[in-house]
Amino acid sequence: MKAKGVEGKVCVITGAAGVLCSSLTEDLLRHGAKVAVLDLRGDVAREFCEKLAKKGLRETLPVEADVLNRDSLEAAKKAVLKKWRRVDVLINGAGGNHPKGTCSAEQFTEGCDLADTFFGLTAEGFEFVNKLNLVGTVLPCQVFCKEMLKRGGAVLNFCSMAAYQPMTKVAAYAAAKAGIMNFTYWLSTHLAPMGIRVNAIAPGFFITNQNRFLLLEKDGKTLTARGRKVIAKTPMRKFGQPSDLHGAARFLLSDEASFITGVVLPVDGGFVSYSGV
Ligand SMILES: NC(=O)c1ccc[n+]([C@@H]2O[C@H](COP(=O)([O-])OP(=O)(O)OC[C@H]3O[C@@H](n4cnc5c(N)ncnc54)[C@H](O)[C@@H]3O)[C@@H](O)[C@H]2O)c1
Repeated sequence: MKAKGVEGKVCVITGAAGVLCSSLTEDLLRHGAKVAVLDLRGDVAREFCEKLAKKGLRETLPVEADVLNRDSLEAAKKAVLKKWRRVDVLINGAGGNHPKGTCSAEQFTEGCDLADTFFGLTAEGFEFVNKLNLVGTVLPCQVFCKEMLKRGGAVLNFCSMAAYQPMTKVAAYAAAKAGIMNFTYWLSTHLAPMGIRVNAIAPGFFITNQNRFLLLEKDGKTLTARGRKVIAKTPMRKFGQPSDLHGAARFLLSDEASFITGVVLPVDGGFVSYSGV
């Protein structure tokens, strides 16, 4: 029998108005899924769904939701169940890096300004990035996987290259994404008896709003020294495009991957396997 793709599946995507997940949303819709577009920026989510409708992609539900607020997620779940009566897929896309959890110096060197180093990080900045990524993945899993207990389902978390090996500067983000990798393994084991699969993708480097300041100069074109290092460490010698994630995500969510759980799949042009030498 032909394994089922994502057609007909009810997918909840957090951070769905963002760069990577808006692209994933559109791809899933084109493959016949129904998508609840959850984002903190409710107005952007609504505008995005209106744009999708103009392209003939109408099986959407924009919902303003905060992944750090259980009540807000419960309200979102209620809206999804009212419209489609089930939840088959959860994609935890809300997250990312933020300058306030980032050091501007790569290493601590003699005579450097303390404010640019690890010692300049604030607890508030570190906590903000950790909470958004890690707790912002855990809470939606609690809320939406409870619904999947009825008939199984699939979760897709967002990991990062920083989870395998921390990158300089992004101390909080690297710790948070390592936490997501570990949590993906943990939850996959916990929920496996209930037919709920939990996997993650680990995107390599995609130019988006949250890393542009690290990878590109102000002109938006010239690579920073860090951007050049990234390309040098990526065997395919380029940044990813959002559409590069489509196939990997759809595969892990589809029934083609019905015996795959607890996997973190890099989509990175080879970054993770190349030592740089
Ligand atoms: N861009 C990259 O190169 C890259 C690489 C690896 C992993 N990732 C991960 O991919 C995911 C998506 O990244 P992106 O680059 O598309 O980011 P983005 O900033 O474009 O999108 C993130 C979205 O999350 C929403 N959001 C923020 N806080 C929220 C909250 N509390 N509740 C609900 N929604 C909230 C934002 O409004 C935004 O629409 C993130 O987890 C990021 O860490 C990105």
